[in-house]
Amino acid sequence: MFDQNSPVGVLDSGIGGFSVARQVQKLLPGEDLLYFGDGAHIPYGNHAEGTIIAMARYMFEFMESRGVKALLVACNTISCVIDRCQDAVSCPTFNAVQAGADAVARLDVEKVGVISTVFTHNARCYPRRILAQSPKKMVVLSCGCPDLARLVEHNLGNPGGMAEVEDNLRQELDHMVLEDRIQCCVLGCTHYPLVEDSIRKLYPGLLLIDPAEEMARALARDLEKRGLKREGGGGTLKIHTTGSVEEYTLRARQVGLERVESVEFYPPMKL
Ligand code: DGL
Repeated sequence: MFDQNSPVGVLDSGIGGFSVARQVQKLLPGEDLLYFGDGAHIPYGNHAEGTIIAMARYMFEFMESRGVKALLVACNTISCVIDRCQDAVSCPTFNAVQAGADAVARLDVEKVGVISTVFTHNARCYPRRILAQSPKKMVVLSCGCPDLARLVEHNLGNPGGMAEVEDNLRQELDHMVLEDRIQCCVLGCTHYPLVEDSIRKLYPGLLLIDPAEEMARALARDLEKRGLKREGGGGTLKIHTTGSVEEYTLRARQVGLERVESVEFYPPMKL
């Protein structure tokens, strides 16, 4: 079973979950983190449901074999199908969509926007969850972005590529922000908080909701409750990817992840 020294798992289709790992490192610096990014198969958001479930279960099984004491399903796209994956692990799971909906439920707003992958948008899981748990009447607008996650994954920190990311953001978000006048925007894909500065620059004053903060808080509460929280600092981060070890090493540094102990290749699931 688990003990305080067991790692916490974080998984995502790519580097997007680094935005979640970063929050956990801030709030729970004593925890060892085990990260899995399925770089070989990103973007998940453009795949069929059955394929997403199979690829997600492959990552869940990896985490189970490593004995994680809690699993953060950072990927919003996988969060939409979590009911068909979570039997693959024996530890509690925390998912991004639930965290995002919890964060919105506490706000005093009437018009909420959500940007996400096409799969998350079509699955309607954000509007359904937000409306189900919000005490007051809300309008939830949602926008599925086919290219944004991939653009962020490969262009972070590169000025030419970031110009492309910002063009894409404008193309996807202008309508919801400038015409529909949403009062806040849920960053419903883990890749988007990695370009939060660009979003703030394009839409100053727009309230942004990053589910990562809520996920880290939910994890902290759970570990406290089960007596599994590792106090102090110095927790390490081990990264596994089915993609490029060089790219993940660079991105981890760019987004400010700390105490990265290793970045290793892991064979991808054959599709
Ligand atoms: N980062 C993932 C999410 O939160 C999706 C990116 C992708 O399409 O793979 O939904």
